[in-house]
Amino acid sequence: MARLGTETAFEVLVKARALEAKGRDVVHLEIGEPDFDTPRNIIDSACDALHNGFTHYGPSAGLPQLRETIAQYVSETRGVNAAPEEVVVVPGGKPIIFFVLLALAEEGDEVIYPNPGFPIYESMIDYVGAKAVPIRLREEMDFRLEVDELAGLIDDRTKLIIINSPQNPTGGVLEKKDIDGIARAVGDRNIMVLTDEIYSRLIFEGEHHSIMSVDGMKERSILLDGFSKTYAMTGWRMGYGVMRADLATHVARLMTNSVSCTASFSQMAGIEALRGPQESVEAMCAEFKKRRDVMVAGLNKIKGFSCRLPKGAFYVFPNITGTGWPSKKLADALLEEAGVAGLSGTAFGDFGEGYMRFSVANSIENIEKALKRIGNWTQKNL
Ligand SMILES: Cc1ncc(COP(=O)(O)O)c(C=O)c1O
Repeated sequence: MARLGTETAFEVLVKARALEAKGRDVVHLEIGEPDFDTPRNIIDSACDALHNGFTHYGPSAGLPQLRETIAQYVSETRGVNAAPEEVVVVPGGKPIIFFVLLALAEEGDEVIYPNPGFPIYESMIDYVGAKAVPIRLREEMDFRLEVDELAGLIDDRTKLIIINSPQNPTGGVLEKKDIDGIARAVGDRNIMVLTDEIYSRLIFEGEHHSIMSVDGMKERSILLDGFSKTYAMTGWRMGYGVMRADLATHVARLMTNSVSCTASFSQMAGIEALRGPQESVEAMCAEFKKRRDVMVAGLNKIKGFSCRLPKGAFYVFPNITGTGWPSKKLADALLEEAGVAGLSGTAFGDFGEGYMRFSVANSIENIEKALKRIGNWTQKNL
């Protein structure tokens, strides 16, 4: 258990709530979830499913009708031929990380993962006893990775490479040439790629490129996607993986051994999410873009902060080295003294030192309030 890490966002949320309980006002920019409600048509279809008897256990790999819908959606959006047997529905995107690492990596194996990156990757690689090999995301490349550097990290022990685009915490988006380069670096070696595309529908500039779409890569790719971010469904716990059918069978068995299945009525709502009107996704994305613009412009006016314009997801990742403060100390001070909850870059790995992450899943009004508070705090303290 000592090897298992955590996701600091939940801890900062608890700390912020404790301050609020003492009467302090806190602007919440720490947690990574849309502040919007789940679209009405999806809620209605879950209610209908409950009334229609979807209150029982279902197959571990997911209801056949949802697996079919996901296979179709992935085939269309990634330009591949995905079959229902290659889909496993799980409670949230996170279990795919957990199950895939349990299934594929063990002591003696190496797993390459983005750093700064979603903390559960490193935590789970350590937990299964494999060696976590970080690939640094570079600010000067808008937080993309350097493909040659990645190629240099691959060796005979490399079992899995994890990539994530659009990226948490930086908002970086991999370009077509990066994806092609990664596929070339993998070549015909016996290496799988876990491609975390949970933010694929939240892109502000450019397009989403999946490594699954590259010729010859479908068999080596495990796609992670889900409903949490795209349809504001974080509390529903709905996600999925798409992978070779033999691996999908193993992951489904891990489902049987852990949670049995994903909630049946949620799965029925998932069909409506993918097949129903998509305007709410576009509206949310447009709103995140507006907020991003306000946040980045505001941060760049504050002493010691410099912030690139993220191309996707709903986070900004300013460089704070100009403040002269270490990230964790600065994040603590901003929460306790300024009433702004954000995360230290180090919550996302060692290469997050010198940065902070703020989520823009909050109103423009609150974002402006946070900017004012951070500005006042820096004037007093720097
Ligand atoms: C990169 C990334 N992958 C996966 C997840 C997990 O999403 P879910 O809430 O669907 O488990 C998150 C959530 O923050 C994330 O940022």
